Amino acid sequence: MLTEKQKFAKIVNLGIEITQVKDLDVLLERILKEARSLVNADAGTIYVKEDDKLKFTYTQNDTLQQRQPGKKLIYSTFTLPINNQTIAGYVANTGEMLNLTDVYKLPSTLPFSFNRKFDDLSGYRTQSMLTFPLKTNRGDTTGVLQLINEKNAKGAAVPFSKKDEPLVMHFANMAAVAIERAQMTRAMILRTIKMAELRDPKETGSHVNRVASYSVAIYEHWAGKRGVHHDVLEKNRDILRMAAMLHDVGKVAISDAILKKPTRLDEAEREIMKQHTVMGARLFSEQYSEFDDASAVVALNHHEKWDGTGYPGHINPFDGKVLPGYENSNGSPRPKKGDEIPVFGRLVALADVYDALSSKRAYKERWEEAQVLEELKVSSGTHFDPEMIETFFACIDSIHNIAERYPDH
Ligand code: C2E
Ligand code: SIN
Ligand code: SIN
Ligand code: FE
Ligand code: FE
Repeated sequence: MLTEKQKFAKIVNLGIEITQVKDLDVLLERILKEARSLVNADAGTIYVKEDDKLKFTYTQNDTLQQRQPGKKLIYSTFTLPINNQTIAGYVANTGEMLNLTDVYKLPSTLPFSFNRKFDDLSGYRTQSMLTFPLKTNRGDTTGVLQLINEKNAKGAAVPFSKKDEPLVMHFANMAAVAIERAQMTRAMILRTIKMAELRDPKETGSHVNRVASYSVAIYEHWAGKRGVHHDVLEKNRDILRMAAMLHDVGKVAISDAILKKPTRLDEAEREIMKQHTVMGARLFSEQYSEFDDASAVVALNHHEKWDGTGYPGHINPFDGKVLPGYENSNGSPRPKKGDEIPVFGRLVALADVYDALSSKRAYKERWEEAQVLEELKVSSGTHFDPEMIETFFACIDSIHNIAERYPDH
């Protein structure tokens, strides 16, 4: 058990560390772990509010973990309605914290009751429970932090002490800020997409949604083949969808005369157009989240080619300088080649060209499907990563479904 001084030192250190963690999942798991360790709670859960429901998002339980060492606890994702009938629901609904001594002995006068289903399934005995709302500065509740079974020196479950309540509230506030930040990042990205749509309404709307969905479909298949862990896949799917939607966002920096030119671009215009990759990446120079990282990677790399003939090559998009050691004799950056191109770049390149060829543009007619597929096949190993082409053809049915779901209007 920690002294008050040790607790204080831990909190200060954690506060500093947490401002440096970008990934919301990692952040909330850390917050839950540290909150539990400070009050010696055997178990705990974080719920995040989504669409007027509470989603059971992270759970940790030392006792159950010890029964199956090395194994990951089964994360049953379930949701609770926000009303007074459950403990977490009550806390989210009223914004009040609850410090309960034994959830099996709640007076029947209380509006909520404890749901024993999970104890019955796992053989765990939940007893004391400390539950806090995750409230933002504006007073909105974004989730719930729940700590279970404070353990005394002998390992027996005891009630949470009243003097630990402010401590736990501090953690609840940190979690609330983290969740709000992630939600703001997401909202900002959606606004950016809308802005790009307003700028280039003919092309962007459905193109953006199709390219994003094609990219996710190809990624899912590719990741499945490679045995990528389910949790990683789930997370990347979301990040990739956003990043792929933003692949051409750098076009907002290109003048209308070029962007909307109804005929072929000349050489000088093409060179300017190529800047949309670097301009796009530059929008995400402040990498607050993995969304920003991925969006910068996709914007920068979606016109590189597998055989090293694409653009913009080995360049730092934020200062526009060629990366040392990658200059061609004329000082231009050497294009990236093969594995030098990040996976998300290779993926979106394929999704983008498939969609561009299949669509009418101001400067070109749409191609017949057979012709498009032939073009992709012959470009395997030149424009595209052969493994991505293989994956694309393996999930061609999903690709066609997506095309039907987002027609051009
Ligand atoms: P986009 O229209 O979304 O096209 C994306 C990519 O699809 C192109 O990258 C290219 O690799 C492929 N693609 C599109 N149309 C054709 C085609 O007719 N034949 C072949 N073989 N491939 C095609 P790229 O060339 O780097 O162009 C990037 C963006 O620059 C295009 O995005 C488009 O917005 C613009 N652009 C390119 N060429 C022209 C042009 O001649 N006129 C105009 N107005 N814009 C162009
Ligand atoms: C994330 O990276 O998953 C969310 C964004 C953030 O932490 O701000
Ligand atoms: C959009 O309307 O382009 C973005 C919303 C979405 O489909 O996620
Ligand atoms: Fe592009
Ligand atoms: Fe595009």
